Amino acid sequence: FVPPGTGGGAGGTPAKDALGNEIFAKEYLASKKPGDHSLAQGLKGDATYLIVKDDGTLENYGLNAVCTHLGCVVPWSAANNKFMCPCHGSQYAPTGAVVRGPAPLPLALAHLDVDESGKIVFSTWSETDFRTDGKPWWI
Ligand code: FES
Repeated sequence: FVPPGTGGGAGGTPAKDALGNEIFAKEYLASKKPGDHSLAQGLKGDATYLIVKDDGTLENYGLNAVCTHLGCVVPWSAANNKFMCPCHGSQYAPTGAVVRGPAPLPLALAHLDVDESGKIVFSTWSETDFRTDGKPWWI
């Protein structure tokens, strides 16, 4: 349970870079190309992908990088347009949906918003998982 309003005006947890600094959307996007998938610290400190769409804006969700098979961090393969787990070969679509097992479940989602100060913030995705049309498995 996360009380509303914790950690920022938009009710989210700020995304942080590898040094622990909060990430501001404008500066971030100025430094990244369309199609970029880079890791930030997300909810509970989990490695979470920030995705830059083809139009240069941020996707409105972050994807938890932890493989749902046995927990390896899953790299993005730009050449294959997929997330490809090096441990046992699971593959995930750009949305985090499973396209090849053994992973049993899609990558966990988090809402991504930009708060009034321009910070990127994550918050719990508790609504329907749009990849499966089912309940989020991570709640
Ligand atoms: Fe990713 Fe096994 S941990 S495929």
